[in-house]
Amino acid sequence: MDRYAVIGYPVAHSKSPFIHAAFARQTGQKLSYEAVEIAPAALTETLQQMHAEPYAGLNVTLPHKVAVAALCEAVSERARLAGAVNTLVRTATGWSGDNTDGAGFVHDLQVNLGVAIAGKRVLLLGAGGAARGLIAPILAERPAELAVSNRNPWKPEELAEQFKALGPIVPRTHLSLKGDRYDLVINATSAGHANTMPRLPGQILAEGGVCYDLSYGASAEPFCAWARTQGAALQADGLGMLVEQAAAAFELWRGVRPHTAPVLAALRTPEPCGSGITHRLPPKPVHPNRIGQD
Ligand code: ATR
Repeated sequence: MDRYAVIGYPVAHSKSPFIHAAFARQTGQKLSYEAVEIAPAALTETLQQMHAEPYAGLNVTLPHKVAVAALCEAVSERARLAGAVNTLVRTATGWSGDNTDGAGFVHDLQVNLGVAIAGKRVLLLGAGGAARGLIAPILAERPAELAVSNRNPWKPEELAEQFKALGPIVPRTHLSLKGDRYDLVINATSAGHANTMPRLPGQILAEGGVCYDLSYGASAEPFCAWARTQGAALQADGLGMLVEQAAAAFELWRGVRPHTAPVLAALRTPEPCGSGITHRLPPKPVHPNRIGQD
């Protein structure tokens, strides 16, 4: 049976074991999927151990997405542009890195929610790692404009410079948005983790505008509440993106694309993980820094 895992620090909160177990059941694939906690200092060594064990593939979550990229034999173009890796595929001699986050976002927005990016005025809030990963996938869909707005004014300027070959980015600050209107506002800041959101001028959402927060759960609430006050035609959290990036990773590993709708629906029920497969702990003893360790 092929082994897979999500690695992070911490990782116990991860929904990936639930999602991938559901995908495996649905597609009849025989595999195991664990959550493995790896401290940053142990990352290089543990990845080598996991290759030797052997694991067939890994998902990568915070804080390892950037560091793992440097440990890969090769990274995909989209992972290079994102500056981060969220999926590792085993090769004979190491790991190949990819990033399915941006594709997961675009799929959730366009296919699941039916919101096209082409021709729209898009505002991306934030200029950190999460925002960076969306820039190439958004530009590929040919928006009328992609504005990137951030608290620190220098970061959007840097992103505009770095991505200029792929398309124009309009660097903005939050307060300078006053008077402009956007069809799609995406919150890629981490402000929601502190139960807040960027300070924005009023009336920046166009008639029929859509708001999307990359976070989910309580972290998405401040922005989704703001979206409602602005009369958004639709506000969405990032749970759909989470499931879609997982589906894209599953397809990379197994060559079969799972249906995401039932898994997303299960995650949205009050007891999404009630089946008891939320976090399958690794057998022990294994790596000294895994969850479930005595
Ligand atoms: P991530 O990997 O989640 O993107 P990050 O790279 O640390 O995390 O980036 C966090 C982003 O959220 C940044 O754009 C940050 O703005 P600054 O560059 O100005 O720091 C933004 N952010 C975090 N807390 C915020 C807040 N309270 N208000 C507005 N923006 C915030």
